[in-house]
Amino acid sequence: MIEITDKKEFHLSNQHVSYIFRVMEKTHILEHLYFGPRINSYDNYDFLIERDVRTGNNFIMGDHTSSFEHIKQEVPVYGTTDFRYPSIELEYSDGDRISHFEYFDYRLSKGKTREKGQPRSFASEQEAEVLTVILKNRYSDIFLELDYGLYKDLPIITRQQRLINKSRENISIEQFMSLNLDIPNENYEWVHLDGAWARERHVKRQEVQPGVQHISSTRGASSHVYNPFFALVSAQTTENKGNAIGIALIYSGNFLAQIERDNFEVLRLQIGINPYQFKWLLKPNEMFQTPEAVVCYSDSGLNGMSQTFHDFFNFHVINNKWQKDPRPVLINSWEATYFDFNEEKLLEIAQTAKRIGIDLFVLDDGWFGTRDSDEGSLGNWKIDYRKLPNGIKGLSEKIHSMGLKFGLWIEPEMISMDTPLYKKHPEWVIGHPQKNISHGRNQYVLNFAIPEVVENIYHQLESILNESKIDYIKWDMNRYISEAYSVLLPRQQQGELFHRYILGVYQLYEMLIDNFPDIMIESCAGGGGRFDAAMLYYAPQAWTSDNTDAIERLKIQYGTSFVYPLSTIGAHISEVPNHQVGRTTPLTTRSEVAMFGTFGFELDITKLNEDELLLLSNEISKYKLYQSLITQGKFYRLLSPFDSDITAWMVVAKDQSEALVGIYQPLDKPNDHYHRLKLPGLNPKLRYHYMIHGKNVIRFGDDLEKIGLILADNYTDRVGEFWSREKQGDFYSKLIYLKT
Ligand code: DGJ
Repeated sequence: MIEITDKKEFHLSNQHVSYIFRVMEKTHILEHLYFGPRINSYDNYDFLIERDVRTGNNFIMGDHTSSFEHIKQEVPVYGTTDFRYPSIELEYSDGDRISHFEYFDYRLSKGKTREKGQPRSFASEQEAEVLTVILKNRYSDIFLELDYGLYKDLPIITRQQRLINKSRENISIEQFMSLNLDIPNENYEWVHLDGAWARERHVKRQEVQPGVQHISSTRGASSHVYNPFFALVSAQTTENKGNAIGIALIYSGNFLAQIERDNFEVLRLQIGINPYQFKWLLKPNEMFQTPEAVVCYSDSGLNGMSQTFHDFFNFHVINNKWQKDPRPVLINSWEATYFDFNEEKLLEIAQTAKRIGIDLFVLDDGWFGTRDSDEGSLGNWKIDYRKLPNGIKGLSEKIHSMGLKFGLWIEPEMISMDTPLYKKHPEWVIGHPQKNISHGRNQYVLNFAIPEVVENIYHQLESILNESKIDYIKWDMNRYISEAYSVLLPRQQQGELFHRYILGVYQLYEMLIDNFPDIMIESCAGGGGRFDAAMLYYAPQAWTSDNTDAIERLKIQYGTSFVYPLSTIGAHISEVPNHQVGRTTPLTTRSEVAMFGTFGFELDITKLNEDELLLLSNEISKYKLYQSLITQGKFYRLLSPFDSDITAWMVVAKDQSEALVGIYQPLDKPNDHYHRLKLPGLNPKLRYHYMIHGKNVIRFGDDLEKIGLILADNYTDRVGEFWSREKQGDFYSKLIYLKT
């Protein structure tokens, strides 16, 4: 419901949340009043105004009360009496940077279409309504449109902003955030995800300190280092209790997520395109639109926040087409063969894969040019007939005739210097031709800001996709952008390169999807270097990390689940000793970790013995049995690998009829203390059946929440001395399935 009072106070509310702001007297800017749990409607919201006249302020001309420094604002603009960081800064042709955006008009609409060109959430007319508030610059015909998306059944508000230049002069956008939210500090802490290659999205929780704190990317991709997400939580907030405000950005390029705590305990939360290295020339009659930000409120802890994000991304960002059928269980050739394969070897793997119930075979890097190592051939998307004498077409036909689907790896944004494309178009590489252009993994970044570059790559890929039957693409991206410079952009537009680049990436995604709508795409960036909501808009699943070790994956998948649904989290069983950390873990543990994601394999299964193959075949059957529960249920994190010896999580069916708990203990402990695992989210009144230590147990949902699962042996008979009993050993895991 969107209510607008005569005094132009806007109240967006649904059964969960309220978001309120008003047009401020005299200044006509938008003053933020409230965001949080739903409150009642009033005729007048003056009681929410919170500001004092303070000495030592600068006041606008003719006024002694309005200092923007103390106003909670919807869109703070540079060039006022607000000394905090603005969300918009514009530069005019005479070099001045003073703007003042005043209320002009509003419009209401229902539903949100699936947009072209820039990912953002979508919804039917019944599911969401949008309030667009239009502001006009006091000094020129520059209009600012603010979209507030209100979802009917979710505690979610989306924010997106547009600048429209109806003046006669060029302006330069120096900064344009997607969201600004000024709220009172309540001893908040903040949670974000950070890491590096092979240890992506580890959870960090810190006190919000006075001053500015931020996470960002300057690398041309959302990156392994930080994720475009943060949450504000009360000190008491746990996984299941307390409040949390989660903020995510639907964007894959350079972002900034910032909290500024001022000296009157107001927190300014911002997320958007990183203003560092950004500048955009907006000519008369042009429009610039920010990426969309998503704000979620939870009063049921971090799990509540994550569950909302999961529903939101599953149903309003990921193309609905991919929700209908279960995702295929796949085997990827990378860790099985790396670059060293031929058709015969691949078919051998595929045959064994088929035998144990795998659905999709994905051929990874190394099938094109003369790519026997990572030293060359990117950008030369011609089949390597030395390795594949029957081409991709022949291979995919043979794979299909076995009853498997076929997938292919590409890395379209990159170029190697040994390719005809590089020799013909060296100017298509990002960098300055007379200065150092650094390589990353021996490769260079194609300038996707140039439409001809995107088209060239599209046409190269199109011919392979047209001649072969391909069901799946794994789209990789293995280096960041450094020395950002485009020979084809004029001086005053160099600051557009990063954003134009990512729009070019979206453009190629759209060309592929428009022309090959049945191909499912998995995104990947050296593992999880671009795991963000915008990628999910095109690619419904992502390769979570190049680290496939089950124990490392506990942390990576735990952190990833803060924002992204299990249906998106690519998780594979790989070989031991593990290729990234050298650890040897049991096959069942590797399987029971990988099951909480889009399940797959990443090893040469032809090397496994019959017992291992039988075990895997049973694991696949088990996964298929639980797949809809895992990908469509509510996910609860129970024990964190970051602060507990045991990790545990579970999914509960939305109708609460069943649940699956995963418990993992990296190191065995002799004579350990007792452990009880409290299970939230079950129906308190229903009885659940489950097996533990070979015994069938029946318990009510409410006692499973209050008392918890008793993990000890339930030792009622004399079953042997401690010394002779079987030990669980290190890297132990257990699944417990509960059914009403
Ligand atoms: C990085 C990816 O994350 C891996 O899965 C694999 O596809 C390699 N690149 C191939 O070069």
